[in-house]
Amino acid sequence: MKSPVRKKPFFSCMAALMLMMSGAALAVDAVDLSQSPEVSGVQENMRIPKEQDRMALNYVNQPPMIPHSIDGYQVTTNTNRCLACHGVEHYRNTGAPRISPTHFMDSDGKVLSGVAPRRYFCLQCHVPQADAAPIVDNTFEPSKGFGK
Ligand code: HEC
Ligand code: HEC
Repeated sequence: MKSPVRKKPFFSCMAALMLMMSGAALAVDAVDLSQSPEVSGVQENMRIPKEQDRMALNYVNQPPMIPHSIDGYQVTTNTNRCLACHGVEHYRNTGAPRISPTHFMDSDGKVLSGVAPRRYFCLQCHVPQADAAPIVDNTFEPSKGFGK
């Protein structure tokens, strides 16, 4: 009878422990990741341009970066704002670059008639760029001939 009541303190202890552990993980390598936009949200002084030139690729098969603001664009199970411009049905009217044939291929290499589920959430791979100082140094060099 008592067991549901007894469980509670255990779970709140676990929750507190998990919180502490995730806090520790955020402080890894003495970099304060709580300042990272992924954690703290986009700061006001961080400018994401509404429109910019298409950005150079840095390596073969890189998902191109998004050269426009995506403020308020929803991608949910019911609606995909990106496809409303980039989808095959719409790209000729919107002038947006059409998604490539690779986006119709499922993980078994089968070509589907619609966008493959693994390509549906565009922002997993395509990201806009903010004018922000990186919090961790990056020594990446573009592949030969790329990045220009
Ligand atoms: C209102 C129409 C519209 C919507 C909505 C839209 N885009 Fe775009 N997108 C464009 C246009 C137009 C361009 C081309 C801009 C240019 O060439 O300067 C573009 C360019 C891009 C590119 C660059 C392609 C390349 O080859 O460099 C990517 C990637 C992209 N969009 C992804 C997205 C994603 C992801 C979303 C949803 C979050 C989205 N777009 C929503 C119109 C749209
Ligand atoms: C799993 C990663 C991934 C996802 C998810 C994804 N893309 Fe891509 N996308 C890529 C890669 C990689 C390329 C470049 C090579 C290629 O075309 O496959 C690309 C290319 C593009 C291009 C440029 C096509 C061209 O011919 O230049 C557009 C536009 C684009 N994607 C839009 C989208 C939209 C819209 C979505 C969401 C419906 C989306 N992508 C989802 C990885 C992804």
